[in-house]
Amino acid sequence: SAGVASDVVLFGGTGDLVMRKLVPALFHLHSLSLLDPGCRIIAVAREPFDDEAYRRLVADKARSFLHEGHDESAWAAFLARLEYVGCDVRDVASFNGLRERLKPGGSRLFYLSTTPALFSPICRNLSASGLILEDSRVIVEKPLGHDLASSQAINDEIGACFREDQIFRIDHYLGKEPVQNLLALRFGNSLFEPLWRREWVSDVQITVAETIGVGSRGEFYNSTGAMRDMIQNHILQLLCIVAMEPPASISPDAVRDEKLKVLRALRPIVEERIATHTVRGQYRAGAVEGQVVPGYLEEAGIPAGSRTETYVAIKAEIDSWRWAGVPFYLRTGKRMQDKLAEIVVNFRQMPHSIFGSGALGHFANRLVIQMQPNETVLLHMMAKQPGEVMRLEPVKLDLDFREAFRTQRLEAYARLLMDALRGNLTLFVRRDEQEAAWRWVEPVMNAWAESEELPRSYNAGTWGPAAASALLVRDGLGWHEEI
Ligand code: BG6
Repeated sequence: SAGVASDVVLFGGTGDLVMRKLVPALFHLHSLSLLDPGCRIIAVAREPFDDEAYRRLVADKARSFLHEGHDESAWAAFLARLEYVGCDVRDVASFNGLRERLKPGGSRLFYLSTTPALFSPICRNLSASGLILEDSRVIVEKPLGHDLASSQAINDEIGACFREDQIFRIDHYLGKEPVQNLLALRFGNSLFEPLWRREWVSDVQITVAETIGVGSRGEFYNSTGAMRDMIQNHILQLLCIVAMEPPASISPDAVRDEKLKVLRALRPIVEERIATHTVRGQYRAGAVEGQVVPGYLEEAGIPAGSRTETYVAIKAEIDSWRWAGVPFYLRTGKRMQDKLAEIVVNFRQMPHSIFGSGALGHFANRLVIQMQPNETVLLHMMAKQPGEVMRLEPVKLDLDFREAFRTQRLEAYARLLMDALRGNLTLFVRRDEQEAAWRWVEPVMNAWAESEELPRSYNAGTWGPAAASALLVRDGLGWHEEI
């Protein structure tokens, strides 16, 4: 297939994200011949490396993150493509080195994977050095701000140097295959759309549970918390994809306009609703997957008495014709029992059971779109058990994407890098969406910050605080794994 001809510049080139995600993603694209051989991959960071020293660093640090079954000679060829420019991004003169490496007048994609405090100096100095051309693009990583005001400030700064259609705000959840498959499922099948509304849907549950703790990111995580780290971005994006109206096309603004409408229709969680609609938790010591692990407060870099939440559960409501009265339960946490990421759509009970009361159970029909641990769509249905009596049992129609499609898969970052290289913004977050998401989470974060209450503790290796179950039980419902 034809490669894309664009230089790629990685700011923060020695950082964790580059080693764990971006280098493996670029390598995968390289090995699929999707990157034009003439294109440069240039890492930029402070350290005074030369190309060779940088390649050695990457060979060492990125190795364990490469895609399955990769080819050693392709890896060697990829490493030889990497270039490095030492640069103090606060100093405009130091961008001369970068200018010398870029193809004059050529397309270029800048990836800002530094602390957001450097986004503004990088953009300003790129611009002052004349390195931003008409068709240049920039990818920015979260966290894009700490709250609405700081996110607006960062967006203003980036926006002073790049047009909105040059700015690719990455949310890697949108690059996950099952998430894109949700678009295919909803808008490529006549089956679901008529049922995808309050008349037929009882509730929706979105779970992103991780077994890992905060690891070596203690200091970063402690000033972030689960609300900013996961809800404001990934989970709200998933909610948008589930809840949006059919866009007229898959074009960027058609899709993003519909997502924005969902975010704007989210009912604000304020005042007494903070207590009834949200639960925040923090893990204490416990056992995860058979391993004894420390509690959050014992992790490296966490100050004594920290109130940072490592778990959040929220009952969200969307004030629209389609979704009025349908709760969307959202939850995410570190150190949970299993690594599980899924969207569950529970359909309403049958109006009447011809098989006798209780014969159909509570939820005969449930659609589960699972991202982790498997990439599957499961449709729970009732079927007759074989035999001489009419007894119904739940069964599942199981669409396993790895079974159904045996072709090469692309990890989220590879897919999104490709989209950015091709200039396709559909799976990137627009400024107004991002700000609408901040607007919704901010009052909750503020209330938590002002509250005397501590986050509820939960044992590592569980499904989180008991209060999160109560959130659903009060509505006569339960989390997917509980019923
Ligand atoms: C990141 C968060 O955005 O997403 C991490 O900062 C989290 O805290 C990660 O672990 C989860 O992503 P994935 O793809 O592993 O589900």
